[in-house]
Amino acid sequence: MTRHRAQVAIIGGGPAGLLLGQLLHREGIDAILLERRSAEYVLGRIRAGVLEQGTVAVLERAGVATRLREEGLVHDGVEIGFRGRRHRIALKALVGKNVTVYGQTEMTRDLMDARAQSGTTSIYEAEDVQVHDVTGITPRVTFRVHGVAHEIACDFIAGCDGFHGVCRPSIPADRLAVFERVYPFGWLGVLADVPPPWDELIYANSERGFALASMRSPTRVRCYVQCGLDERIEDWSDARFWDEFRRRMCEEVADRVTTAPSIEKSIAPLRSFVVEPLRYGRLFLAGDAAHIVPPTGAKGLNLAVSDVFFLHEALRDFYREHSEHPLDEYSARCLRRIWKAERFSWWMTRQLHRFPGDAFARRMQETELEYLFESEAAQKSMAENYVGLPFQPR
Ligand code: FAD
Ligand code: DHB
Repeated sequence: MTRHRAQVAIIGGGPAGLLLGQLLHREGIDAILLERRSAEYVLGRIRAGVLEQGTVAVLERAGVATRLREEGLVHDGVEIGFRGRRHRIALKALVGKNVTVYGQTEMTRDLMDARAQSGTTSIYEAEDVQVHDVTGITPRVTFRVHGVAHEIACDFIAGCDGFHGVCRPSIPADRLAVFERVYPFGWLGVLADVPPPWDELIYANSERGFALASMRSPTRVRCYVQCGLDERIEDWSDARFWDEFRRRMCEEVADRVTTAPSIEKSIAPLRSFVVEPLRYGRLFLAGDAAHIVPPTGAKGLNLAVSDVFFLHEALRDFYREHSEHPLDEYSARCLRRIWKAERFSWWMTRQLHRFPGDAFARRMQETELEYLFESEAAQKSMAENYVGLPFQPR
C-alpha cells in the first residue's frame, strides 16, 4: 500500500476538479487530484462551449486565461430561430454583459497545463476509487493504479467526479434530497472544420425539432439537433446530420451551410437533477456530481466553476482563519445559483424543443416565443439569465 497525505483530495479531473486544484494551489493549499480516465480521454470529450463573464473572471483569477483572452470569441448577442426568421437577443445592449465562446476542451487543456507547471500531484487512470471516514476528522481515499493499492489521508474530500462518479453514491440516501426531471429526447452533436456561416449562436425551434448552430473558432463549427432517446449514432451519417440540421435552420442560414467530415459525433440525453445538500461531513460535492442541467441554457460548465470558486473560498478561510462558517454555508451559497440556472435551463428547454403529442404545450410555446420577440422586458429577463449572475467573491 502506497500512502499519501494531502490537505484536500480532489476526485475527478474534469473542469471542476482541475479548477479547484488550481485555485487551491494559488492559496497555498495542497491537493492531490485523482482521475479515473487518462488525460487524453478527458481532453477528447467534446462538451460545453459558452462561458459567462463571471466564469471568465474566475479563470483570470486562477491565472489560466491567457489563451482564452486571445482565442475566445466574445459574443454580444444570441439568436432564436422560429418560423423561418431569426430574432436577436442583444445581450450586451440589454444587460451590459456578453458571453465568450471557448470550448470546454480548451479550458481543460489550459488547466492541465497549469497543473503540470505547478508541480502538484495528479493521478490518472485511478481505479476502484473509494471514500472512507468522511464524517470523521481524517477522511481517506483508497484506489489502485496499475494494480498497486494507494491511500490518501486528508482533511477534506472534494467530489468533482461528475454525474456517474463515486462520491454522491457514497452518501447515505437518507441524507440527500434528490430532485430530477428526465426529458424525452437527447442532443446529437457534431464538430466539423468549416468556417461558421453565422456570427452568433442560433437556437432554432423548428417543426422538426430543436437545432443549435454554435462554433469553436473562426474555422470550426459545433452543431446539434434534438433526437430521440433510442437513436443510435451509427444511424446518423454526416450527410443525414447536415441534411436534418439544414432543414431545422431558417433558409438564409441553411443555404450558407458548408459541410466537412465530422471530427466528433455524440448523443447526450437531457436531464435536470439536483441533490441537496452538497455536503456530507468532510465530503463536498461540486459540479455535475451534484447537479445536471439540460444544455440548452449553456449553464453546466458555468455552474461547475461557481461551485468550485465558493468551495476554494471556504477552504481558504478554514486554513487561514480557522473558520468553519464558510464551509457550513457552502451548500446554501451554491444552491441559490444552482436553482436559478436549473429554472432557466428548464425554461429554455421547454420553449425550444418539440414535445411530441402535446398540442397544448406547442401552442403555449408559440405564444411564449411571440411574447419574447415583442417584449423588451422578456428579452431582458432571458439575457440576464443567459449571461449569468454577478459574482461576489467573499
Ligand atoms: P465532468 O466534466 O463530468 O468531470 C468529472 C470527472 O470525474 C471526469 O473526468 C470523470 O472521468 C471523473 N470521474 C468519474 N468517476 C470517477 C471516479 N470514480 N474516480 C475518479 N474520477 C472519476 N454543458 C453545457 O453547458 N453545454 C453543452 O453542450 C454540454 N454538453 C454536454 C455533453 C455531455 C455528454 C455531458 C456529459 C455534459 C455536457 N455538458 C454541457 C455539461 C458540462 O460539460 C458539464 O457541466 C461539465 O463537464 C461539468 O464539469 P465537472 O468537472 O463537474 O464534471
Ligand atoms: C454549446 C453548447 C450549449 O449547450 C449551448 O447552449 C451553447 C453552445 C456548444 O457546444 O457550443
